[in-house]
Amino acid sequence: MDSKPFTVHDATASVPFADLSDLRVREAPQIVSAQPLPRPETPAKSMVDTAARPAFQMQRPRGQRHLRFAPLAASLAIAFASAPAASAEIRKGPFLQALGQTGVTVKLELATPEAATVEIEGPGGFKASRASESAKRFHALRVDGLSPASTYTYRVTAGGAQSAPAQFTTAPADNRPFRFVVYGDSRSDPSTHAAVARMIESAPGDFFVHTGDMVYDGADEEEWQELFTIERKLLANRCAFVAIGNHELTSPDPKGQITFLRYFAATENDGRERPHLYGSFRWSNTRFFLLNAMDTWTGDEKEWLRAELAAALDEPGLQHRVAVLHHGPFSSGRHGGNVRLKKQGIVDLMRDHKVDLLFAGHDHVYERGEGQGIKYIVSGGAGAPLYRRENSAPETQAFEATHHFLEVAVDGEKVDVVARRASGAVIEQCGFKGTESWSCKTGDAKAAPKPPAAAAGSSSSCACQVPGGSSSLPGWPLGLAASLVLALRRVLRRTSEVDA
Ligand SMILES: [Fe+2]
Repeated sequence: MDSKPFTVHDATASVPFADLSDLRVREAPQIVSAQPLPRPETPAKSMVDTAARPAFQMQRPRGQRHLRFAPLAASLAIAFASAPAASAEIRKGPFLQALGQTGVTVKLELATPEAATVEIEGPGGFKASRASESAKRFHALRVDGLSPASTYTYRVTAGGAQSAPAQFTTAPADNRPFRFVVYGDSRSDPSTHAAVARMIESAPGDFFVHTGDMVYDGADEEEWQELFTIERKLLANRCAFVAIGNHELTSPDPKGQITFLRYFAATENDGRERPHLYGSFRWSNTRFFLLNAMDTWTGDEKEWLRAELAAALDEPGLQHRVAVLHHGPFSSGRHGGNVRLKKQGIVDLMRDHKVDLLFAGHDHVYERGEGQGIKYIVSGGAGAPLYRRENSAPETQAFEATHHFLEVAVDGEKVDVVARRASGAVIEQCGFKGTESWSCKTGDAKAAPKPPAAAAGSSSSCACQVPGGSSSLPGWPLGLAASLVLALRRVLRRTSEVDA
């Protein structure tokens, strides 16, 4: 199936959101003479106060919440109807995207259309600013001319509002050691998501890799708002490279895909956003391939991946190829492995082109293993309800149904992974060198119980959405239930909007 390019637009605002072509504009940064930016809070480099669990309350269903407070909202609207206009509200962000060796894109979304400016300061007295060309709600401000492996401080201003200063470090130009944090499936439970996010704030790493399903309904603006509220500090200070999940896909309604691309589209090396649900980026000696796992793998994504992997074979200095996709080929969780990847030869394609590590999500568990010559980790534990072990994939080497995240360190041929529960406690520490198999220092998760005998060996029952594809029969009750929940929530929301 061909993945159609999307055009980003705002169907609800009178002023259009930036379309993808906005990022093709490359103006030289302007030198400014503003006062030095105050230094932001610097994330700690070590783990973490395990008692620091946030008091984030579950607030679902939202429609009911709005109904309850609708009279109060109406009263406030009347009371303040004649009040003078306040400064603009930054609703989402600022957050980092397309972070590379010499550039970064700072994105933000406002409550009302305003012009926006980002100011950046760095080593050697570097100062630059980039202003939007018009008043609008969504801004993607690209700044180039940065130095590799350098730390910068930035803040944005828009309509009288100013963000807190935040900080980022550009990618290195050489193959030096680096770290990153992996998490996924942060949807559906804001309380747990917030707890995991607070722990990740203290985890060392230059950037994030998210394995998809950031929200339950990619077309639901409130859920995106919730994500950006919980991850405000994370996304302001480190760039998140995201593989799209089935819950961001809302086809045939394209709103989910469009929204995902607006916020987290993969980019070219120069920061131009790709109008596709897949892409790649390089950091030090490693190239990451961000894939749309829900594709049928019969069209343009497969051909792109084949060409991209072939090109990576000739890439100077490259020592690791890492695939990131939501529904991976191996899993002992509820969904099981993604059979389409095997049927269409994607796993073999990866192995033949030296992909040595794969990160997936979709099953809300921690799982580590190796299959068809590729080491993998399923990391889908950043908030969504946990799944039991319901399959017995022969590739599985460790399994634990727990909320968690991963700290990954790359140093030459070596890759080390520390898997941590939401409490900060270590699940296990494993790594490998070159083409070797996993080697683990601790292995609590190996003692995880095997699945019930009746379920062992069963194949995937995933009800995930596949544009143009068909769901497998065993998953239809889940799909039907999910559809009913979505429909109910939309009805409740519409009702509350009418009442307000
Ligand atoms: Fe999923």
